[in-house]
Amino acid sequence: PGTIEIAPSLLSADFSCLAEEVADVEKSGVKIIHLDIMDGHFVPNITIGPPVIASLRKTSDLCFDAHLMISQPQRYIKDFAKAGANHITFHIEAEGAPHETISMIQSFGCSAGICIKPATNPEEVLEIASLCRMILVMTVEPGFGGQVFREKCAEKCIFLRETLGKDVRIEVDGGINETTAGKAGELGADTLVAGSAVFGSKNRQEAVEKISASAKK
Ligand code: DX5
Ligand code: ZN
Repeated sequence: PGTIEIAPSLLSADFSCLAEEVADVEKSGVKIIHLDIMDGHFVPNITIGPPVIASLRKTSDLCFDAHLMISQPQRYIKDFAKAGANHITFHIEAEGAPHETISMIQSFGCSAGICIKPATNPEEVLEIASLCRMILVMTVEPGFGGQVFREKCAEKCIFLRETLGKDVRIEVDGGINETTAGKAGELGADTLVAGSAVFGSKNRQEAVEKISASAKK
């Protein structure tokens, strides 16, 4: 794996002051902010859409890592790209031919990522993995923050790292905190999403440092 990056997930931030929340976490030196997009259909929860991302884009230079938990990603890729997403991840379980979705993402100047839910076999992404900058391995059922890390899911990173090599980044999402980050790093993940563990802490900088230290062990 390359350098370990922590990607705080805005899902657990205070939605009444998102710009301040992003700025606060930016002070901890992170390069990426993870944006969870849910449509109430692919997952049983609804979050934010392109207008919120466009507003935040004016206040931050962080890499916007948009995680689309939506049934029809192809319908909205242009909107998310125009709003200012830098990296767009969609689910292999969603509608549309994955290689087409990837081309569409790239045609708007974004890097592409593909995500697998807990029940999905990592072999399913092998064919298209080389087209992606990052593979996202869910370590909880997508939909909500604050769930418990599933080590069995994170073990998929071993296979992905062995098969894909060092060039693709492997991101884990769900239940990452200063205890579980070590396991995720050990299994081959190099990008760690953390929502409640960062935004649920009073001192975000300290939280990011602890997660990062744990992952590098
Ligand atoms: C869940 C989202 C996650 C979520 C993680 O569907 O994809 O990004 O914010 O939250 P924590 O870190 O609290 O498990
Ligand atoms: Zn996510």
